[in-house]
Amino acid sequence: MDLSPLPQADPAGTDVLPLIASLRLLGRRLLATWRRQQCEPSAFSPLATAMLSEAMPALVAPPEQWVRALAAEARLARQSLTSRFGEPPVTVVARGNLRIEVYFWLSPATALHDHVFSGAFGVAHGSSLQERYAFASDDPNHQPVRLGTLRRTAAELLSAGEVREIAGPDRCLHRVAHLEVPTVSVCVRTRHDVGAPAQYTYFVPGLAAQTDEHFSPEARRRIELVRMLMHTQGQAAEATAGSLVAAAPDLEAFYMLWRLFEAGVGVDRLFALLPDRPWALPLLPAFFERLQEIAAWTDPAGRRTLAEQRVAELTAASCYT
Ligand SMILES: [Fe+2]
Repeated sequence: MDLSPLPQADPAGTDVLPLIASLRLLGRRLLATWRRQQCEPSAFSPLATAMLSEAMPALVAPPEQWVRALAAEARLARQSLTSRFGEPPVTVVARGNLRIEVYFWLSPATALHDHVFSGAFGVAHGSSLQERYAFASDDPNHQPVRLGTLRRTAAELLSAGEVREIAGPDRCLHRVAHLEVPTVSVCVRTRHDVGAPAQYTYFVPGLAAQTDEHFSPEARRRIELVRMLMHTQGQAAEATAGSLVAAAPDLEAFYMLWRLFEAGVGVDRLFALLPDRPWALPLLPAFFERLQEIAAWTDPAGRRTLAEQRVAELTAASCYT
């Protein structure tokens, strides 16, 4: 591994180039080292973790400095404009299967999710609570919507400069709550791991659904049309929405209902739309939990206390199990 010193951030914050230069240098060194290992998939995340950890002292900077640095770039790497991960996400390096991205976070609580990529992430500004989960399911075939059981296995507070690996057989099933607004994180990752199944979003107590990133434009419009229709009252609207949900494939039906729930459609009206699928009834408590989780983090003044409670709860529970 090339361990010659990386450039350090300008402490005065007046020189905005080192941040981007540091990420590009990290990308070049990581690719060169990984290629010497024949781009062995299992070698990537330990390598990304070690090299991002080495680079982090140069990457800890306030959001304003990150924004100045990114905005000064005449040409950035190709951006993923459909990604809903980050507010916004900005891709700085896109070479082969390597991606280096900077994420800004305004909403504190990310969804519980796994990954179709491997690598590492680091906190560049602010702090975050990472909670790891395990999902057990009798469904071995990775259906688009899966029933199972979720169990929280770890919780830790991450400060600026800290790095964690994204890897493992559970594909790093976690959720991250960002305590400062905005929090900034840096992710060094593969674009997509060969053979990885689809990415899932998880809902406590035990529901998993593939993410909605790969819907066709037609499916997206159908979801939006159902949502529009349910903003109106009346049996005709509900009958039409119900027939669309009933006719939709599992994942599309799931997101029709989730978008309605997010939009505040009442449980009684939503209940009338539930299709005859095994996951339909467990869906409502799962949706409630997700909204409660979002609401729990809305008060900025209480976030650190809540994060510390989450860590303490797990530590206390582990003493008795
Ligand atoms: Fe993640």
